Amino acid sequence: MKRTILTGDRPTGKLHLGHYVGSLQNRVLLQEDEQNNVFVMVADQQALTDNAKNPEKVQQSIMEVALDYLAVGLDPEKTTIFIQSQISQLPELTLYYLNLVTVARLHRNPTVKSEIQEKGFNESIPAGFFMYPVSQAADITAFKATHVPVGEDQKPMLEQTREVARDFNRTYGKDVLVEPDIILPPKGQGRLVGIDGKGKMSKSLNNGIYLSDSADTIQKKVMSMYTDPNHIRVEDPGQVEGNVVFTYLDVFDDDKEKVQELKDQYRAGGLGDVKIKRYLNDVLQAKLQPIRERREAFAEDKGAILDMLKSGSLKAEAVAAQTLDEVKDAMGINYFK
Ligand code: TRP
Repeated sequence: MKRTILTGDRPTGKLHLGHYVGSLQNRVLLQEDEQNNVFVMVADQQALTDNAKNPEKVQQSIMEVALDYLAVGLDPEKTTIFIQSQISQLPELTLYYLNLVTVARLHRNPTVKSEIQEKGFNESIPAGFFMYPVSQAADITAFKATHVPVGEDQKPMLEQTREVARDFNRTYGKDVLVEPDIILPPKGQGRLVGIDGKGKMSKSLNNGIYLSDSADTIQKKVMSMYTDPNHIRVEDPGQVEGNVVFTYLDVFDDDKEKVQELKDQYRAGGLGDVKIKRYLNDVLQAKLQPIRERREAFAEDKGAILDMLKSGSLKAEAVAAQTLDEVKDAMGINYFK
């Protein structure tokens, strides 16, 4: 069955291993299936909802994110990569959808709630930020996406999108919009922990390894990783659970037997942190070197990247324009048709 897949990222910085494990890898797989029509959106308007005073960061990150996409193997021949702000139909759809959503319903969105806390908005929540789930519903429904691959934290957005689509179709008496299904990351590929072991890898916690990091930087980060604080002497028995080095080996080392061997040895005592870190470093370097090299090669021609984003955006715009036209027909506001 033909599927339309849509997903995206806020451009607020370069992408890291957490993005790679949780979504990028899977997108590359999805694009290889001919049944899938894949759209990947750089959500700059959504990034601006809490970066209005800092547009340069968003603007510069668009190029970084695009380079990260290409470096991991997203192929513009197979995946339509586009920039949200270039599709003027999206805010137009948002405006119509906003009339179908109550303020109380927006207040209940748990992801938005916790973001308001994290960002310390208190009573000064930007209205644009507050209603971004509706704008996200427009992103998704404009392409009649059937499937949206995202992390667990995006569940509330998908729920709201389904509600908007259902309400729209019911209200205007036509099946114009599609209720999308969520595709959650496979087990064990959820949110990768950061190198400090404190929380998920994220830019704000400064605990990430980036796809663009140099070999040197990667090594330094691996050597500084959180392990078992009670594993003081090499001969001490060490703990594997919650030990970031082993978490990463589980995720990135394909040689599962070797990992099991190292775990047994570490638990028994006699395996030093420096040694396992060196081993992990080799594993990560092997994974990241080809990505970094591809990234550097693509970065040599930024003009070509812009051309790619432009043609992706034009393609996306044509699809969104078709949906908007159907939406206006259903609402009876295509007055001059
Ligand atoms: N909210 C998503 C995030 O923070 C980004 C996003 C915007 C998105 N629009 C989307 C994801 C549409 C999937 C579909 O990562």
